[in-house]
Amino acid sequence: VAHEAAKQIAARTACSWITDGMTVGLGTGSTAVFALDRIAELMASGYQLAGVATSSATEEQARTRGLQLLDLNEVEKLDLAIDGADEVDPAGNLIKGGGGALTREKLVALAADELVIVVDESKLVERLGAAFRLPVAILPFGWRHTLRRLSRFGEGELRTRDGLPYATDNGNHIVDLQLPGGVAPEQVMQLDHDLSVIPGVVEHGLFVGLTTRVVVGSDDRQTRIIEIPRV
Ligand code: 5RP
Repeated sequence: VAHEAAKQIAARTACSWITDGMTVGLGTGSTAVFALDRIAELMASGYQLAGVATSSATEEQARTRGLQLLDLNEVEKLDLAIDGADEVDPAGNLIKGGGGALTREKLVALAADELVIVVDESKLVERLGAAFRLPVAILPFGWRHTLRRLSRFGEGELRTRDGLPYATDNGNHIVDLQLPGGVAPEQVMQLDHDLSVIPGVVEHGLFVGLTTRVVVGSDDRQTRIIEIPRV
């Protein structure tokens, strides 16, 4: 599978910011899953850690590794969250939701003091959405109308699985939205707002101003760390 070594080294490096006693946000996807292996190792070496999962898939993966899971409602805040991304721009803004978990991922990221994003080099872009379609979670009720409202930003397509509308962990649908030419870092905040106020939109995959660090792994197992000041 593509970039496995890069993903693994990025996720393991991100775990170096975990200290004993922390509550950690557990991201979703093929990169974030490698952090679970490292967290299990840390716990085996005596660390007391708790996790809040960003999806039922991650919940399952965490349980098989023996991690203690909490509900987001049970914690006031998280010390750190580690998650993957579909795209990262030079300001650390993200597109997430390729795996459909964007709503829980954003709520966990917002609750965390720090958000460490783990990616391989292929995820770094100048403009978000020029290549990857932006996932938008929408209510099933009246979804065709919401899709029409979204189409003023670009062509949107309802995500399907086995011929049926894809259902998120929260029972929502997802529209994958083509943003012609993508969006520059200085326009991202406006688009965040414009999408958020559309009735029927539950959440969208633009993560603006949440990232505090990006760990970029490469196939030769090197890492580069980008610190993003939170403004
Ligand atoms: C899921 C996500 C993932 O973090 C994103 O899709 C990246 O996944 P991967 O590490 O498998 O490429 O946002 O909703």
